[in-house]
Order: sequence, then structure tokens, then C-alpha cells
Amino acid sequence: MSVSVLSLTRPLDTVSGLLQLASLLGLALLLLKAAQLYQRRQWMLKAIQQFPSPPSHWFFGHKQEFQTGLELQELKKRTEKYPCASPRWLWGSKVILVVYDPDYMKMILGRSDPKSEGAYRFMAPWIGYGLLLLNGETWFQHRRMLTPAFHYDILKPYVRLMADSVQVMLDKWEELLSQNSHLEIFEHVSLMTLDTIMKCAFSYQGNHQADRNSQSYIQAIKDLNYLVFSRVRNVFYQKDIFYWLTSEGHRNHKACQLAHQHTDRVIKLRKAQLQEEGELEKVRNKRHLDFLDILLLAKMENGRGLSDKDLRAEVDTFMFEGHDTTASGISWILYTLATHPEHQQRCREEIQSLLGDGASITWEHLDQMPYTTMCIKEALRLYPPVPSVGRELSKPITFPDGRSLPRGFLVSLSFYALHHNPNVWPKPEVFDPSRFAPDAARHSHAFLPFSGGSRNCIGQHFAVNEMKVAVALILLRFELAPDPFRIPVPTPRIVLMSKNGIHLHLRKLL
Ligand code: HEM
Repeated sequence: MSVSVLSLTRPLDTVSGLLQLASLLGLALLLLKAAQLYQRRQWMLKAIQQFPSPPSHWFFGHKQEFQTGLELQELKKRTEKYPCASPRWLWGSKVILVVYDPDYMKMILGRSDPKSEGAYRFMAPWIGYGLLLLNGETWFQHRRMLTPAFHYDILKPYVRLMADSVQVMLDKWEELLSQNSHLEIFEHVSLMTLDTIMKCAFSYQGNHQADRNSQSYIQAIKDLNYLVFSRVRNVFYQKDIFYWLTSEGHRNHKACQLAHQHTDRVIKLRKAQLQEEGELEKVRNKRHLDFLDILLLAKMENGRGLSDKDLRAEVDTFMFEGHDTTASGISWILYTLATHPEHQQRCREEIQSLLGDGASITWEHLDQMPYTTMCIKEALRLYPPVPSVGRELSKPITFPDGRSLPRGFLVSLSFYALHHNPNVWPKPEVFDPSRFAPDAARHSHAFLPFSGGSRNCIGQHFAVNEMKVAVALILLRFELAPDPFRIPVPTPRIVLMSKNGIHLHLRKLL
């Protein structure tokens, strides 16, 4: 009997001993981590001592600014109170310098700092390491390889395709409006811009605006916009191993799968078409290479083609960047014109005198709508589709006012705050297209919807053309008015969205 009691207690002793040891080790690790975080916080506090900011909680940082839903309002207040830039604590051990001054922007965009790890890394499971996320030499090679896809000769015939996609959307609007004059436009515009990029960059035929696959892709992108943004700001979502176990992690995984199904379909079909068309050289001679052709035929400097993974990353990147940004741009432009009927009418008159019924809009027309162009720019100032971008300083920086930051510091270039900074744009909330009159002077880095420097937007000419075509054709067919009961609330995600959609009243013009 006594032998069996002894034999039972010994293992128990061993187990409890092991548990004690594990707890001690755990505690030691916890203390070590706490010491590291404390040291990091001290380093950050020292680095930003020359940059005042609103008071922040030692653990939650400026979290309440994000939670009120009035984040952009808070940002505007900062531009009035704290000149040039101010730190924003995401939590106790993570701070970012938010920049909204043209000289600061110019300095940072003139360097070659990499994209900040945190925010961009969280987009990688979705868009992979394509042009948007790549850094260094590989980025340079890809940029050089893809730049010809945006040459004027390639962009010219796209105007026709863009106009066709817009007309499909407008026909649908006419049908819907026979029941109700009110419409939430963001989703319709997203389907239209997706249709356009599919036809232009990926030679994908058909009507995607009524297609269920396109609709579920758009929904996946909407979810990912929210999920990536939410992850960036949550201290508990930083480590992959924990994040993918959370319900948001599951949703993210599912949305990525949906997005990839869409892009895989496009690649597969195009590859099959290329096979049918015969040898690659024949294709080269037959017509201009679109974006996907360039990728499929690409030979990198080492003579090898793009790997399937790299190819997918570029397709995912351009599928997203090529439609969501322009959807945001066009939707906010329409909202701005709806709330400023006198400018809307002036644009319409300009377009009517140029195009008549608009049936044959061409590349040549796009440079002949100066007032509409000014209104588009002013709307992009008020509602920049990409509200901010991030960089991690690869070497120390000293700004023109003498303040400095060390290597490794994170900066957020807030185009939204820059465009609403009263020191840069007097009365920034007023919609005043004359700010963009040909003779109006401004700082080279006061207006940056497409960013600047070597990592500016590769698709900006494509985007501007698409916005002009869409605005021109929409104004010819409809009169726009805001819905006074549903004023949109701008919300920063990867692109600028509205928390409650963008609701307009539309009246068909005869
Ligand atoms: C109104 C529409 C658009 C806006 C406001 C916009 C804005 C921007 C901005 C601000 C950046 C810099 C991002 C960063 O530094 O992280 C960027 C980069 C980029 N954009 Fe756009 N974009 C638009 C449309 C497009 C279109 C239509 C395409 C493709 C057809 C496109 C493709 C890209 C790509 C691939 C990059 C990464 C470029 C690089 O890093 O080399 N964008 N865009």
C-alpha cells in the first residue's frame, strides 16, 4: 500500500515542480518583454520630444481618436494646433509621426525609405508582394517592367472601353430609377471600375457588372479594406500566430480566398488565350501588349520569366489598386458635385458643348474640359482616395525647421490632413475649383492624391482618364442631388470610404 502511495506522489511532485519552473520561466520572459517594451517606449518618447501631440493614454495611446468615428475630424484639429506633424500613439509601444506639411512631404518622398512594415505587411496575404508592397531592387525591376503598360499609346484606346463600362452602369441606373430616385452609388461605381480594369488591363471580355463573381470580389475587397485597417490598429492582432485564430483572422482568410479565386480565373483564361493565339512572338507583333500580356511575357534581367507567385501578386495588386481607388475617387467627386449644383451645372454645360450627347467621347476630348478637370481636382483634394501612406525611415532625417527623427522611426504621410491643412489651403473645407485654375500658384507638394517621388502612383493617367470619362457621361445623363437624410461620413480605410455609403438622388435628363 505505502509503495503505491509513494509511486503516485512522485510523479505529482515532478509535475508540480515542472509547473513551477514553467511559471518562473514565463514570469521571467514576461518581465523581459515588459523591460524591452519600456525601453522602446523611452526611445520613442525621446525621439518625438520636439513634436507635441494631444494627450495620450500610456497603454491605449490615442485609441479614443479612432473609436469615436470622428478620426478625420481629429486629424484636422491637429493640423490647426500642431504645425507640420504630430505623433500618434497606436498603443503604448507604437507611435507614428503623422505628417501634413508640404516641405516635410517633399523631403520624405524625395528619399527612398521602404514602406512601413506593419501596415503593408498585413496586405501581403491578399495582394502578395507586387509593385505596391515590394521594396528595393526587385521593386525597381518590376516598376521598369510595368511602366510601358501605362504608355499613352496603350491608354488611348482604353477611353472607348471606359465609356462602354460607364454606359452599362448608367443603363442600369435608369432602370433602377424608374422605381426610386435614390441610389447608394459606391457599390455600382466599384462594379463599373472593376469592369473597366478587367477589360483594359486584363483583356477580359463580357459584362462583369451583372456577374456574381465580380459582386463577391467587390464584397471581399470591402471586407479586406476594413480588416487590414482594423488589424493595423489592434495590439493583439499583430502576431500572425494569434491573429489567424481570431474571428477577424478567419474572415480575412476567407476574403483573401474569394479575391484569389477571382484573379486566378483571370490569369487562367488569359494563359489559355495566349496558347490559342500561337507563339508569344506572334502576339507581340499582333497588337499592343496589355498589362497582363507584359506580365506573362516578361523576362526579368536574369532572363527568367515571372514566377507564378510573382505574377499572381501583380495581378492581385493591379486588380485592387486599379479599381477601388478610382471607385472611391469617382463616388466622392459625384457627391461633391451633387452638393454644389452651380458647379455641377457649369461642368455639364462645358461637357455638352464639347460632346453633344457624349456617344463618341475620345482621348482628344479629355484635355478639353478645363472646368470639369478643376472640379475633379478640387474633389480629390477634399476626398483623397488614398488618405495616407506609410514609410519606415531607413536613415535619420532632419526636417527644414530643424526637428529630426532617428532611423527606424515610422511616419504616416497623411494626404487627407495635408489637403485639409489651413496653413496650406486657406478655408480648406470650402469647395473652390478656382484653386486649380491654370494660373493658381501652389507648393509642389501641397496636392498629392497620387503621392509623389519615385513611388508615386503608376496608374495615375489611367485613373484621371477614367474619372473624366465617368464624370462627363454621368453629368450628361443625370442631375445629381445629395440625400439630406444620409450625409456620407468619410472613413479612412486603405481607400477613403463612407461609413454609411454615398447616397444620392438622381434625376434623368431628357
Ligand atoms: C484615383 C485613383 C488613384 C489614386 C488616388 C491612387 C493613389 C495612389 C497612391 C497615393 C499611391 C502610393 C502608395 C504608397 O506609397 O503606398 C499609389 C500607388 C500605386 N498605384 Fe495608384 N491610385 C489610383 C489609381 C490607380 C490605378 C488605376 C492603378 C492601376 C491601374 C494604380 C496602381 C498603383 C500601383 C501599382 C501603385 C504602387 C506603385 C509603386 O509603388 O511603384 N493606381 N496610388
